[in-house]
Amino acid sequence: MSGHGTAIPMTARKSGPLKGRAEVPGDKSISHRSLILGAMAVGETKVTGLLEGQDVLDTAKAMRAFGAEVTRHGEGIWSVHGVGVGGFAEPANVIDCGNSGTGVRLIMGAMATTAMTATFTGDASLNKRPMGRVTDPLALFGARAYGRQGGRLPMTVVGAADPVPVRYPVPVPSAQVKSAVLLAGLNAPGETVVIEKEPTRDHSERMLRGFGAKLTVEDAPEGRIITLTGQPELRPQTVAVPRDPSSAAFPVCAALIVEGSDILVPGVSQNPTRNGLYTTLVEMGADIAFQNPREEGGEPVADLRVRFSALKGIEVPEERAASMIDEYPILSVVAACAEGVTVMRGVKELRVKESDRIDAMARGLEACGVRVEEEEDVLIVHGMGPGGVPGGATAKTHIDHRIAMSFLILGLASKKPVSVDDGSPIATSFPVFEGLMAGLGAQITRDNA
Ligand code: S3P
Repeated sequence: MSGHGTAIPMTARKSGPLKGRAEVPGDKSISHRSLILGAMAVGETKVTGLLEGQDVLDTAKAMRAFGAEVTRHGEGIWSVHGVGVGGFAEPANVIDCGNSGTGVRLIMGAMATTAMTATFTGDASLNKRPMGRVTDPLALFGARAYGRQGGRLPMTVVGAADPVPVRYPVPVPSAQVKSAVLLAGLNAPGETVVIEKEPTRDHSERMLRGFGAKLTVEDAPEGRIITLTGQPELRPQTVAVPRDPSSAAFPVCAALIVEGSDILVPGVSQNPTRNGLYTTLVEMGADIAFQNPREEGGEPVADLRVRFSALKGIEVPEERAASMIDEYPILSVVAACAEGVTVMRGVKELRVKESDRIDAMARGLEACGVRVEEEEDVLIVHGMGPGGVPGGATAKTHIDHRIAMSFLILGLASKKPVSVDDGSPIATSFPVFEGLMAGLGAQITRDNA
């Protein structure tokens, strides 16, 4: 799977109204962090609602390799016996993070201030992605990294034996970089300070506090200043992982573009650092009711009732990009089914995701008969109105789960079927996607089945 195994070509066909309840899996970002922080606490952390996608399973395996005891007790129910901050054991083997940028970058941060050496690798997609954005700040703590040209995996990280705390203004809007620095700061004496110009997802900050670390956040003219006091004793927690707003985006957007649909997606995280897509959809005219707002697992959540809507194209402001960075592929599908033009600015980080997502979406949409304009940092989609996309093409997914799911959703509302060359990467983040979509009435099939 995900670049290691057999491709699974899939096809989506025009479907009748989607109806019913879509219970999407646990949040990927919070799932990774619960395993890593659990491994750095002293004692047993219990997790419910853990996403059992391949990305998170690879992080669980990695935490075992660093000496934590990680056990599955039932669907989404896991426990982690942590070894404490600075208590990691040197892994005996290469750590394979599969397709997961979050997994590898956070784990590199977590081990970089302990005197040990670890070698990391991944699949063909992950091994193309830049790691310098993480190894640069880790070098300031005293860690060294030896990778391939351009700072690519496979890469060996030699942790700092005598780490020093750092003050680091993050040069790119990236929660992975911010989190890697904070995790490294855990085993450095004194205060580690991270400054981010634009706010990115804040799960690490919330969870570090929850595990008992001293962490303060200050909004200053230079940005969000996050100060972490090093060498705390992390206390084990009970983590209830909320449902993933990035996974919920697929059934939600499907219901918006398939005529007559009316679905309920319960318990979706509405963390303001993650909900940019939902704000955008409402601006486009989406009929989404945010019902029963409440707090679950330290995150604001709501039940989303979503009905088919006649949408119009809009300008998505640049400053919203970080809060919806993983949602631009599915937004560009929605934009193709809207009336008018949708302009997405400030999106160049999409070029260094699991694939170059601007290029992957532009090429696939064009193949389906949609007019697209592309610049380094901008994606423009010319909408064809509800039911107006011709379809009848196969999109290349480039080992990218979100590209695969986006084009399959497009196929549900296009005139002719839309295929993807490989749906296997969907299992990295949304292993129950096919069953869940079928339960709503979506026609998505495996071509070889
Ligand atoms: C993530 C951060 C984002 C996002 C990824 C998950 C995280 O990446 O795209 O899917 O859990 O911290 P960047 O930090 O590279 O923007």
